[in-house]
Amino acid sequence: MPKRIAVLPGDGVGNDVMEAAFIVLEKLNPDLEYEWGDIGWEFWKTEGDPLPNRTVELLKRTDACLFGAITSKPKEECEAELIPELQGKGMVYRSPIVRLRQMFDLYVNYRPCKAYKNNPLIYREGLDFHTFRENTEGLYSGVEYHPVSDELRAALVKDNKNMAKFDSVPGEDIAISCRVFTRNSCRRIVKAAFELAREKGYKSVTVVEKPNVVRETSGLMVREARKVAEEYPGIELWETNIDAMCMWLIKNPLDYNVIVTSNMFGDIASDLCAQLVGGLGFAASGSWGESYALFEPTHGSAPKYAGQYKVNPIAMLLSASLLLDYIGEKQSAKDLEKAIAAVIEEGVYRTYDMGGTSTTLEVAKAVAAKL
Ligand code: IPM
Ligand code: MG
Repeated sequence: MPKRIAVLPGDGVGNDVMEAAFIVLEKLNPDLEYEWGDIGWEFWKTEGDPLPNRTVELLKRTDACLFGAITSKPKEECEAELIPELQGKGMVYRSPIVRLRQMFDLYVNYRPCKAYKNNPLIYREGLDFHTFRENTEGLYSGVEYHPVSDELRAALVKDNKNMAKFDSVPGEDIAISCRVFTRNSCRRIVKAAFELAREKGYKSVTVVEKPNVVRETSGLMVREARKVAEEYPGIELWETNIDAMCMWLIKNPLDYNVIVTSNMFGDIASDLCAQLVGGLGFAASGSWGESYALFEPTHGSAPKYAGQYKVNPIAMLLSASLLLDYIGEKQSAKDLEKAIAAVIEEGVYRTYDMGGTSTTLEVAKAVAAKL
């Protein structure tokens, strides 16, 4: 039975890079069945939901998903762009990608960032980062309040004296976003990082938090990391605060390979790692849990470039390689990564970010030609 893949290009340049992905997938011709689905801004505007139910059902009947990119905008703009029939109905936009990660419990967000040879944009040669970002909780839990009700305030003051300093501030003038960590989620993300370190022979895993200030959540993550580390003799656990880590990644980037952190810190640190290896055009990612996985470039939908075939498809092609690896097409995955590396090294086909004039699809065709 061929594996079934949901294909969700999304909007903006999601479509451009998905077309690029299919140029290489058609060349590789793995034994897969594809089913295309609707997601993104267009469906928010016309249906009031960027993630229609039919798309959720589609994902449920497939083995994995290849995802392009989607646009999200701040609250007021979301409302304004709804079709008139849907306006004023209290519809709330929540990032569909964040919803998918939570709905399918895709707790690992894996973001490899590698400095490919002869990429003019890399910061140092030899960089090789593997960031594991907790993908379902933390500041992304969606436990947020504004305005703050009197009941909530009373409950918080009762439990925590620090809340009393906001006594004189009206509820309307307070917003609270909760950073929720669970022990199990801390454990499983750290374990995923150590598993990769063991498999690929890395000597350390760096847990990146801020337990000196954000004592409860970061503290829980670091304590769990210490326990998990005991199960992996021979791999050191390094502990670094997020602020310092941003500095160390610039100062001594070659010291780090496997990084594990919570949702928001991982969002930030993985963009930093991406820039060190040439920018978001080179940053692939995989999100997976026990029973489903989704692969996407880390970049957004860049609406201003949509349909221009200008953006770098490499992040998307690397994401396709991660997908192939995940579903067991190991050889195709390796071949694809090698072909991408070869095209970068030759330096003939380069998109604008790399100083070239090639289109998205020309780069994809160059990769396909190496396969
Ligand atoms: C990412 C993105 C998303 C995130 C956005 C688009 C919701 O920045 O995948 O890193 O914050 O996780
Ligand atoms: Mg991000």
